[in-house]
Amino acid sequence: MTRAKPWQALLALFAGALLSMSSAVAAEGGALQQSGTDLGDTVSLQRGAQLYMNYRSGCHGLQFMRYSRMAQDLGLSEDEVMNNLNFTGAKFGEQVQVAMPAGGAGKWFGTTPPDLSVISRVRGSDWIYTYLKSFYLDESRPLGWNNTLFPNASMPNPLWQMQGLQRPVYGKKDAATGETPVEHLEFGQTGTQSAAQFDQTVRDITAFLEYVGEPSALKRQSLGVWVILFLAFFTFLAWLLKSEYWKDVH
Ligand code: HEM
Repeated sequence: MTRAKPWQALLALFAGALLSMSSAVAAEGGALQQSGTDLGDTVSLQRGAQLYMNYRSGCHGLQFMRYSRMAQDLGLSEDEVMNNLNFTGAKFGEQVQVAMPAGGAGKWFGTTPPDLSVISRVRGSDWIYTYLKSFYLDESRPLGWNNTLFPNASMPNPLWQMQGLQRPVYGKKDAATGETPVEHLEFGQTGTQSAAQFDQTVRDITAFLEYVGEPSALKRQSLGVWVILFLAFFTFLAWLLKSEYWKDVH
């Protein structure tokens, strides 16, 4: 039997790691939908901020984001932020904290809603987008809601009025696990928005959380173009200099 070369062993290890990562993602809840967010779309970020602040209803904080920073990055005035996005009475320079009393959440939801400052970096935008679209009615759950991407999540669907009510269509019972998987979701009652409008609503919220996860991303991207241009120009200068130095050397 021939022994694998070190580079073959490394490649196999890398492929194995990739495979287990992808199967872990798949096992957690099936296919993700593409969020299609655009951090360059300031209007989408502004809408996302408004929707997020209105619908999180004091459940989730953004402990690394200050109202003043949000105003600066999203092109909003202090008055606009304080009147439309601040419901906790916090000062302009303070972070976005949770309005709910400490300890209350654990009692009501069975778990404390996590701070969402870096959730987009942990879960990814596609995950958040799919999660917010995957709630369905489930009478067996304490709050009457379940989620196909995050089974048995303790969060109620905050966007149901816009989305409508989704009901599950179950598949065949799995003999091994004894569970009956949800095959797909269908609407039992339509919401105030069309499917396309609701997709945009969820995209805006997702884009806002993506921005919160890395507020300097926009600056970093625009700066990146200048850095590449500088490097290209510098390479050209270095090449001219080299040609000048070496022109008499034969
Ligand atoms: C637009 C509004 C909201 C967004 C974007 C949002 C987003 C999220 C996300 C992404 C998670 C998953 C966190 C993780 O990976 O563990 C989560 C969990 C949770 N959310 Fe929300 N949420 C919103 C509104 C709410 C509201 C209004 C409540 C309370 C009434 C709530 C309660 C919870 C709870 C209890 C969890 C923990 C779920 C569990 O671990 O089982 N959320 N939320």
